[in-house]
Amino acid sequence: MDQQAQIKEWFEKTYSKNSKSYLRPPVAYEVFLGLLNPKKGQKILDVACGPGHLLIPAQSYELQLFGIDISQNAIDLAGKALPEADLRTGNAEVLPYPDNYFDHITCIGSLERIIDMKKALQEQLRVAAPEARFCYMVRNNRTLSWRIKKSLGFINKKGHQGAKGLETWTSLFQEQGFQIERIVPDQWPGKRFQRWINPWINYKKIKPGIIPLRYAYEFIFIMKKA
Ligand SMILES: C[S@@+](CC[C@H](N)C(=O)[O-])C[C@H]1O[C@@H](n2cnc3c(N)ncnc32)[C@H](O)[C@@H]1O
Repeated sequence: MDQQAQIKEWFEKTYSKNSKSYLRPPVAYEVFLGLLNPKKGQKILDVACGPGHLLIPAQSYELQLFGIDISQNAIDLAGKALPEADLRTGNAEVLPYPDNYFDHITCIGSLERIIDMKKALQEQLRVAAPEARFCYMVRNNRTLSWRIKKSLGFINKKGHQGAKGLETWTSLFQEQGFQIERIVPDQWPGKRFQRWINPWINYKKIKPGIIPLRYAYEFIFIMKKA
């Protein structure tokens, strides 16, 4: 089995076994929408959308919703939650959309899963409108948890788990033709626990991290075309 087929198979099994517990709940994705602040009627594409956890809260913005994922099981789950959305099964390295089409493109916790990341980024630039904005959440390899996982050999090879440091992600995006507007630390690790104490928690609010950005669990990049 080639590497791409193996990655797909791993995700098909994961979504058929534990689709609920594998990912963050949809409420955790409000932060990405808050950062992009999309306007009614705009088109948003979630690349590697999984079961649609970002597109679910995006419905309240009255956007045109699009999602693509390599896993058929993920797209089936997304279809149940999002009957109005345009959802497709496919590889993010070859996007089935016209040039200059989307106002917002997101790719959450998935870029490092794609074999040819540069090809996927070029495709996203191609289908993005000139003033489009991008939101990516990518994994940091400088965290203690990543280092422990790596040293114990717990990095998930079948699911193509990957991570890079802040400087490497920054240069990758800039070299590929993105202009970085903002980088913020992933907010979920804190909010995940706070929400049990404070039910009125604002999921969209970005709080300055206590720890330096380069040690954040994951980075959120907000970008546009350079
Ligand atoms: C960690 S999950 C994140 C899913 C979703 N973005 C979320 O945050 O809920 C990674 C996703 O990437 C998808 N994926 C991996 N390689 C892909 C590829 N080449 N093209 C499209 N999707 C891919 C997987 O099927 C999986 O749904």
